[in-house]
Amino acid sequence: MPRIPNIAIDGPAGSGKSTVARAVAAKLNFLYVDTGAMYRAVTYLALKAALDFRKETSLAALTRDTNFSLVQHLRSGVIELWCNGEDVSPFLRTREVSQMVAWVAAVPHVRSHLVRCQRRFAKNGGVVMEGRDIGTVVLPDADYKFFLTAALDVRLARREQELNSQVQSFDKEELHREFIFRDEMDLKREAGPLKAAPDAIVIDCTELSVEEVVVKILDVCGGG
Ligand code: DC
Repeated sequence: MPRIPNIAIDGPAGSGKSTVARAVAAKLNFLYVDTGAMYRAVTYLALKAALDFRKETSLAALTRDTNFSLVQHLRSGVIELWCNGEDVSPFLRTREVSQMVAWVAAVPHVRSHLVRCQRRFAKNGGVVMEGRDIGTVVLPDADYKFFLTAALDVRLARREQELNSQVQSFDKEELHREFIFRDEMDLKREAGPLKAAPDAIVIDCTELSVEEVVVKILDVCGGG
């Protein structure tokens, strides 16, 4: 029997990759894996445990001691991330987590644990996985790889819209600074930096709607 393919979708914050990846997974009936949520979960757990974020060994130990599982509700399509028996999904998008997650994501031993776990999610195929290093590090053999980009002002506007829809108050300038800081950290870190795989299809989403990007991806993957 032919193996079910895996699809890797990478790109910077606000490129629209989460919405796109979720829609592609729903269309193909694949499992959607948001790897950013896993880095956010470690950050949330570290904040909850009042860990010192400068101590990389503590962050790595916390990651190693956490059992990650995904619970997909078939009817609603909602996917929850559970850590050691706790559904952490509602706590991953707070300002505190967003401010600290780039530090956590730069710790090599945190990354290596999470990469192993992400590979386990994809071992039987049928996964749409999104992040920063999926096509390059996590699933270099993914059957299809996409790298989504968009102009900074468009990415910022998307993030503002998302925060508004969650009724989270925010300072525009602070958001702008935070965004650029995270982009820099993602691009410059040594382990698993944000980078398009040489064999990834790059899609500039600046002037495309989510639906248009989804159609492009499904056309390539044969699900259109
Ligand atoms: O996609 P996001 O904004 O939820 O990602 C949160 C953070 O995790 C962001 O700083 C980038 C980082 N990340 C990463 O380093 N590698 C991934 N595969 C996914 C996210």
